[in-house]
Formats: sequence, structure tokens, C-alpha cells
Amino acid sequence: MDDTTRSQLLIEALSYIGKFKDKVVTIKFGGAAQGDPEAKALFAQDVALIHSLGMRPVVVHGGGPEITRALKAAGHAPAFVEGLRITTAETIEITEMVLSGQVNKELVALIQSKGALAVGVSGKAGRMVRARKMGPVNGVDLGFVGEITGVETALIDALLDSGHIPVISPISMDDEGATLNINADSVASRIAARMRAERMIFMTDVDGVIEDGALVPSLSSAEALKLIERGVISGGMVPKVEAMLHCLNHGVGSAAIINGSEPHAIINELFTDAGIGTQITP
Ligand SMILES: Nc1ncnc2c1ncn2[C@@H]1O[C@H](COP(=O)(O)OP(=O)(O)OP(=O)(O)O)[C@@H](O)[C@H]1O
Ligand SMILES: [Mg+2]
Repeated sequence: MDDTTRSQLLIEALSYIGKFKDKVVTIKFGGAAQGDPEAKALFAQDVALIHSLGMRPVVVHGGGPEITRALKAAGHAPAFVEGLRITTAETIEITEMVLSGQVNKELVALIQSKGALAVGVSGKAGRMVRARKMGPVNGVDLGFVGEITGVETALIDALLDSGHIPVISPISMDDEGATLNINADSVASRIAARMRAERMIFMTDVDGVIEDGALVPSLSSAEALKLIERGVISGGMVPKVEAMLHCLNHGVGSAAIINGSEPHAIINELFTDAGIGTQITP
């Protein structure tokens, strides 16, 4: 890289650093993106870095592959409807152990190993995520799967105000205290909307929304709904794109789906003019 290119890159980055100072950046770290230990360490480094630059990062994580592994080890076959996991009375306990225990604490440790302070909580903490059992989807009862009825972000604000990075597992509860599994994309988008986040970034294991083998760099609401209807967007991409639409319709600055297995994906998304992945536009 020559000196001019280097200065140009730095100037580009510096203008974004000013823009994002004190702003909330919500990052959903998908289970699918957590497979590669090196990418995970770089993710933690990026989160610690943007925090040190004065941003207010809020991390919400999934853990699909880890849950599947734990369920299989315990003799349970995973089952999905429309990208949503069916969760029984036995499997909700394992799901909570994996998400709120293993995955959550591992991310906290990783971020702290990069020099920032992080606190791991679940949607249960401080009644952050209020939920109720979801009705049947395509005629199938999903079991202990919740839909969000409200979000309270006082605890997140308090953590950020005291210099801590909140790391949030999507496991939540209903008004009676029953544990419910909630799609982490939905939790992240509701938190981002409630906090009027500047950016919402979904990190997964693909470059973004793919159509006919090619990345769709930007997607309007109407196009997104059409792609879901046509089945081009399916499985785990459906709740993600719906979460992007929620962000768009509820005052979040902008939302993007990016590939979390790419090194320093967050930095490339936040600090360059072009950005990466799929951006949602009105
Ligand atoms: N049109 C599409 N473009 C890209 N990916 C798609 C599309 N339709 C379906 N997918 C699937 O969506 C997956 C991403 O969703 P998935 O729920 O598996 O990951 P995640 O949300 O990052 O992880 P987790 O749910 O564990 O947090 C992709 O790996 C891909 O298989
Ligand atoms: Mg998912």
C-alpha cells in the first residue's frame, strides 16, 4: 500500500470514528459465524476496539450450531419450522445452558481478553425482554419458543454508562417466569430499535442475502418481502431479514447483514464508505 492510499484509508476511517462516537452499535453475532476460533477472536478484538473509540456496542448472540451439537449429544434430533427451532420441555434446559452459559460466557471472556470489560446477561436480566409463548407456525406448535411483547433497556444503558459491553443471550421468560427461546435476530432488532441504535449489524456465515448465487448489496423492504415470498430467502435468513425490516421501520440508522467469518468484518462495515454485505434501504 502506498502512502497516499494509506492516508486516504485513515481519513475515511477517522470521519466515521467521529460520526459513531457515543452512538449505540448493536451487533448480532450469529451462531453460524462462531465456528472459526480465529474469526471469533477478531470479532472480540473489533468489539473491544470500537468500545475504546467511544462507541456503545451492544452484542446479542445466537448459537445455533452449538445448540444442535449439545442436543444431538443428549440424543435429541433438532427440528425447525420456517427457520425457528422447535423446543420441548427437555430441550429448553439444554438450550439455555448452551446459550446463556457456554456461548455467552465464552464471548465475555474473549472480549475481556482483548482489554475491554464485558458483562454477560440473558434477556431475562432486568426484565429486558418480555415474551410470551409463540402461537403455532404453519400449524406446528414450536413449544418453548417465545415472541417478544416488550423490551426494557435500562440495564443495557446502565452497563454502557459504567463502561461495560453488554453481551446478551436471547433466552428470555414469560410473565410467569417460564423460560422461552427467542430468535436472536429478533432480540437484537428490538433492542436496537428501543435504543435508537445508529447501526444494526447481523454477522452470519454468508456474505449477505444471496440471489442466484450473487450477493444482493442493497435490498428495499418491498424487494425483501418479495424474495421471502418467492422462497429465495429461506430458513435462518427469514427472521434476519424481518429483523432488518423492523430496524428500518423503527428508527435505527441503518442495518446490514455481513459475513462474520471474514476477518475484521465489523471494521470493514463501519469504517469504509462502501461497507460490505447486504444493506437494507427504505
Ligand atoms: N437468500 C439467502 N441468502 C443467504 N443465505 C440464505 C438465504 N436463504 C437462506 N439462507 C440461509 O440462512 C443462513 C443464515 O441463518 P442462520 O440462522 O443459519 O445463521 P445465524 O442467524 O447467523 O446463526 P444463529 O441462528 O445460530 O444465530 C445461511 O447460512 C443460509 O444457509
Ligand atoms: Mg439464525
